[in-house]
Amino acid sequence: MLETSKPAGRRVVVLGTGGTIAGRARAAGDNLGYTAGEVGVAELLADVEAPPGTILLAEQVAQIDSKDMEFAVWQRLAQRCDAWLAQPDVAGVVVTHGTDTLEETAFFLQSVLAPGKPVVLTCAMRPATSLSPDGPQNVRDALAVAATPGASGVTVVCAGVIHGAHDVQKVHTYRLDAFASGDAGPIGYVEEGAVRCVRNWPSAPGGRAYPAIDLIAGLAQWPRVEIVTSHAGARGTLVDILVSEHLSASTPSRLDGLVAAATGNGTLHHALEAALLRAQAAGIAVVRATRCAEGRILAHPSAGLRDAGDLTPVKARVALMLELIAAGPRS
Ligand code: SIN
Repeated sequence: MLETSKPAGRRVVVLGTGGTIAGRARAAGDNLGYTAGEVGVAELLADVEAPPGTILLAEQVAQIDSKDMEFAVWQRLAQRCDAWLAQPDVAGVVVTHGTDTLEETAFFLQSVLAPGKPVVLTCAMRPATSLSPDGPQNVRDALAVAATPGASGVTVVCAGVIHGAHDVQKVHTYRLDAFASGDAGPIGYVEEGAVRCVRNWPSAPGGRAYPAIDLIAGLAQWPRVEIVTSHAGARGTLVDILVSEHLSASTPSRLDGLVAAATGNGTLHHALEAALLRAQAAGIAVVRATRCAEGRILAHPSAGLRDAGDLTPVKARVALMLELIAAGPRS
C-alpha cells in the first residue's frame, strides 16, 4: 500500500486490479502484443497529481487481465471498496481495471454497494508502455470524479466521459473512447479536471437493490448461471444437456440459472424457447435479455419467461446471480 506524502486532506483511494492500463509490452510502439496486469498501481500513480486538497493512497487488490475475472476478485474488491468508503476522511475510491469485463464489475459493485460516495472505475485501451498511453489521463479524470463533492455511486470514466454502472457497455474493440451508455447517455464529462454532469449520479444512499456486501463477503459458492444465445438455427440441445447434468449431478455442477441472450424485443428461436421452458419447469431460474445494444425489452403478458428489461445479457447474469444469493441456498 502506498500513501503519498502530500499535505493532509481528504483521501482518495486507488485500488489496482490489472488490465491494459497496467499492461506492459516489450516494444514501446506495440499497442497489441502486450501483457495486461503487469504494472503495479503505485507505479501507475507515480506521475499523477492528486486533485487539490486530497491525498492519494494506492492498494493492489488483484493483477489480472479482466477477461479472467473471478468471483473471488469481485468479493475482495467489493470488501475493500466498502472498507475504504466507511472511513470518514475517504472522499471516494478509484478502481483501475481492464476494459473487457469492466461493465460487469461496475454493475456488480453498484448492485452490492450502492455507495453514497463515488466509486470510479477507469481503464485504458493502450498499455502503460505505449508511446502515447491513454491510461494516465483516464486516471486523472477518474480522480477528479472521485474527489467531486456530492458525487455518488459506481461510475466508469474513460476518454473524458462519465458513464453510470447500469448503462455502460464496451462498444469498441480498439478506439480509445470505447464505452457508451446507450439510450441513457453519459452522466457527464471531465474537462481539464472539471466535472460537468448532464444527469444525476447513479446512487441514492441506501438504494441497494441486491444482497448486502456482508452476504457476498462470506459466500463460499456462487450460483451457477449460464448464458445461451438465440440466433438463426438455434437449438435447445445445450440447455437440455445443462438441465440433465443439473438433475443428475452432485452440488458442484448444479445449474441455478440461465440467461437467454434474446433477439430484438426478447424473442427466442422456438426450439431454444421450448428448452428454456423445460428448464424453468425443472426449477432453473430463466431470464431473457436482449442482444440489442440499445433499448429494453417491452414486457408482454403472454411471455412465459421473464425479462431483464434494459440489462444486457452479461449484466442480467450478474443480477440473476445476486437475486439467487439473496434468496438463499436451494434445498
Ligand atoms: C483487460 O480487460 O484486462 C484487457 C483489455 C483491456 O484492458 O483493454
